[in-house]
Amino acid sequence: METKHVCLLVLTVLCLIVSIADADTSPVLVKKVKGKKVCDQGWECKGWSEYCCNLTISQYFDYYQFENLFSKRNAPVAHAVGFWDFKSFITASAIYQPLGFGTTGNKTTQMLEIAAFLAHVGSQTSCGYGVVTGGPTAWGLCYNKEMSPMQDYCDDNYKYTYPCAPGALYFGRGALPVFWNYNYGYLGDCLKVDLLHHPEYLEQNATLAFQAAIFQWITPLKKGQPSPHDIMVGNWKPTKNDTDSKRIPGFGATMNILYGERTCGKGDVDDMNTIITHYLYYLDLMGVGREQAGPHEVLTCAEQKPFNPSTVTKDSASS
Ligand SMILES: *[C@@H]1O[C@H](CO)[C@@H](O)[C@H](O)[C@H]1NC(C)=O
Ligand SMILES: *[C@@H]1O[C@H](CO)[C@@H](O)[C@H](O)[C@H]1NC(C)=O
Ligand SMILES: *[C@@H]1O[C@H](CO)[C@@H](O)[C@H](O)[C@H]1NC(C)=O
Ligand SMILES: *[C@@H]1O[C@H](CO)[C@@H](O)[C@H](O)[C@H]1NC(C)=O
Repeated sequence: METKHVCLLVLTVLCLIVSIADADTSPVLVKKVKGKKVCDQGWECKGWSEYCCNLTISQYFDYYQFENLFSKRNAPVAHAVGFWDFKSFITASAIYQPLGFGTTGNKTTQMLEIAAFLAHVGSQTSCGYGVVTGGPTAWGLCYNKEMSPMQDYCDDNYKYTYPCAPGALYFGRGALPVFWNYNYGYLGDCLKVDLLHHPEYLEQNATLAFQAAIFQWITPLKKGQPSPHDIMVGNWKPTKNDTDSKRIPGFGATMNILYGERTCGKGDVDDMNTIITHYLYYLDLMGVGREQAGPHEVLTCAEQKPFNPSTVTKDSASS
C-alpha cells in the first residue's frame, strides 16, 4: 500500500516536471561545460549548445502563425500547392537552432530574426504581384521554382569547379531561390547533397529547400562580412568603410547582403519596399508589432552601397 502510494506520487511529480518544461516536446536538459550553461531540448535543439537553453522556434512561432503568414500558398491558383509546410520549416531549422538561428537573444530578438528571414522567403516566392487579390504580402510561398526561365543559368567560367551537368537546368528554385550552376554547386558542397547534378531536389523536398535558405541566411558570403543572421541578432559592428557606404545594422543591411545592387542603393524602389512591407506585416501577424522593427533608416537600404558590387568583383578579377 505504502510503496504504491509513494510510487504514484513520484510519477506525478515527474510528469509535472516534464510538462512544465514543455507541453509537447522534450524537457530542457541542462549542464555546465567549463562554467558555461549549455542545454539540449531533444530533436528541435540538440547537441549541448548555449542557444538551446533559450526558447526553440516552435515555442514562440507555431503552426497557426505559419498558416497565417502564408495563408494563400495552397489556393488553387498558387504554383506549389501542397509543397510548403510548417513541419518542413521546423525540421530544417532544427539543424541550425543549436547554432543560434532563431535562438539568439531574448524572445523579441528571436521573433524579429524569424520574421525577417520569412519576409525574405515570402517576398521572393510571392505570386501576388499584379493580378491576384490581397497584394504580394498575402501570397508568400506561392512558388517553389521559377515558372518560365528565359535561360539555363549555366556559367561556363566555372567549368572546372562546377561544370554544368548534362540536361540540368539551374533556374531559380527553393525558399530563397538559388540560381546558376556555381551557386547550386557551392550549396551542394556545403549541404552534402549533389545539387549540381540534381538541382531539381530543391523543388522536390521542402525541408531541403528551407535548409538551403537557412544556410544562406546564417553563412557570411565572404570573410569579414556579416551574414543576415549576424545583422539581425546584433553580432555585426560596421567598419568605417561600412559607415561611409551608409551600411548600418538593421533589416536594410540583410537586403544588401542577399540582393546587393539589384535592390539596394537605388532609392525608394518598389522591389525594396515590398520586401520591407512583408517584414512589417509578418511582425504584426506574429504579435510582435511593427514598431519593434525600428525606424525607417534601419529598415531601408535605399542609400546603401552594396557589400558586394558585381562590377567591382569582375574588374578586380580581370586586373
Ligand atoms: C531584448 O534584447 C534587445 C537587444 O539586446 C533589447 O534592445 C531589448 O530591450 C530586449 N527586450 C526585452 C523585452 O528585454
Ligand atoms: C538566451 O536568452 C537570454 C534572455 O532572454 C539572453 O540574454 C541570452 O543572450 C540568450 N542566449 C544566447 C546564447 O543568445
Ligand atoms: C529531404 O531533405 C532532408 C534535409 O536535407 C533530408 O533529411 C531528407 O532525407 C530528404 N527527403 C527525401 C525524401 O529525400
Ligand atoms: C575600404 O574601402 C576602400 C575603398 O573602397 C578599399 O580600398 C579598402 O580595401 C576597404 N577596406 C576594407 C577593410 O574593406
